[in-house]
Amino acid sequence: MASFFFSFASSLILISAVASAQLSSTYYSSSCPKALSTINSAVTAAVASEKRMGASLLRLHFHDCFVNGCDGSILLDDTSSFTGEKTANPNANSVRGFDVVDTIKSQLESLCPKVVSCADILAVAARDSVVALGGPTWTVQLGRRDSTTASLSTANSDIPQPTFNLSALITAFTNKGLTSKEMVALSGSHTIGQARCTSFRARIYNETNIDSSLATSLKSNCPSTGGDNNLSPLDASTPTVFDNSYYKNLVNQKGLLHSDQQLYSGGSTDSEVTSYSTSSTTFFADFASAMVKMGNISPLTGTNGEIRTNCRKVN
Ligand code: HEM
Ligand SMILES: *[C@@H]1O[C@H](CO)[C@@H](O)[C@H](O)[C@H]1NC(C)=O
Ligand SMILES: *[C@@H]1O[C@H](CO)[C@@H](O)[C@H](O)[C@H]1NC(C)=O
Repeated sequence: MASFFFSFASSLILISAVASAQLSSTYYSSSCPKALSTINSAVTAAVASEKRMGASLLRLHFHDCFVNGCDGSILLDDTSSFTGEKTANPNANSVRGFDVVDTIKSQLESLCPKVVSCADILAVAARDSVVALGGPTWTVQLGRRDSTTASLSTANSDIPQPTFNLSALITAFTNKGLTSKEMVALSGSHTIGQARCTSFRARIYNETNIDSSLATSLKSNCPSTGGDNNLSPLDASTPTVFDNSYYKNLVNQKGLLHSDQQLYSGGSTDSEVTSYSTSSTTFFADFASAMVKMGNISPLTGTNGEIRTNCRKVN
C-alpha cells in the first residue's frame, strides 16, 4: 500500500513536471524567430497611440488564464452556433484589445503560418504592455496551444468579481493554484487602466472605508443612477504608469473597487500591501514571478488544441 502510494505520488510529480516543462522560453526560436519582436513592435505602437491599451491587453491574458487555462478562449467570437466568453458578466462591455490581437495575428500568419498561438500572443502582449508602461519585465514561457471551445459559465464563475470580500478573492486565486500573496501582487495590475461606474458605484456611495475627497470627486462622473459606462482610473494618481502607487492608494483608503480595498482592510493581506507600498522593487519581483505562474495555468500542449489562424474563430 505504501509503495503503491509512493509510486502514485511520484507519477503525479512526474506528470506535473512534464506538463510545465512543455512550455519553453525558446519555443519559437527556430520556427518563428521574429515572433517576439513582431509582437513587441505591435504592442509598443498600440500603447504609444493609446496608453490604456496596455492595461486592456494585460487584462485579456488574466481573463483568458482564469477560464480553463491560458488557451486563447476569451478571443473566440460568438456565432449563431457558438457561445463564447465575450458576453460573460466580467467581460461584457468591458474587455478590449481584440483589434490589436488581430493585427498581431495577421502579421504572424504572414511571417510563419500556423505556428504562433493566440494564447501565446496574449502572454507576450501582457508582458510587453507592462514594460511599455514602466513596469518589470520577465521571461515569457511559450508553447501554449489554442482551445477549440470556450465557456461562458466558467467565465462567470471563475473570474473574480469586484464585489468579492477578501476570503472570496483568496479562494478564487487558490482555485487556480495561486497563493494569497500572489493574488495581492497580481492585483497590482490595477495600477493601470480604467473601470466603469457600475463596477465601483456601491463603493463610492455606500462604503465608509474610502477617502471622502476621492469619493466626492468620483461621484461627479458616476451618478447614483445612470452613467454605468462612465470611466474612472483604477489608480487616480498615476493611471498610465505601472508603479506601486496602487498599494499606496490602498493604505490611504483610496482603492477604487470594493475588491481592491479588501486587500487592506484589517485582514491577512495588510502586511503584503504595506510591503509593496514601500518597495516597488519587491512588488516588481513578486509581480513578475506571479505573472509567469498565472501564465502556466493549464496550458494546452502536444496534440491538444490547435494553432488558430484567426484568433476569433476555431480553424
Ligand atoms: C483580484 C481580483 C480582481 C478583480 C475583482 C478585478 C476586477 C476588475 C474590474 C471590475 C475591472 C474594471 C472593469 C470595468 O469596469 O469595465 C478591472 C479592470 C482591470 N483589471 Fe482587474 N480584477 C482583478 C484582478 C486582476 C488581475 C489579476 C489582473 C491582471 C493580471 C487585472 C488587470 C486589470 C486591468 C489591467 C484592468 C483595466 C483594464 C482596462 O483599462 O481596459 N485584474 N478589474
Ligand atoms: C465573504 O463572502 C462569502 C461569499 O459571499 C460569504 O459566505 C462570507 O461569509 C464572507 N466572509 C466575510 C468574512 O464577510
Ligand atoms: C446602498 O445601500 C442601500 C441599502 O443596502 C441600497 O438600497 C442602495 O441600492 C445602495 N446604493 C448603491 C449605489 O449601491
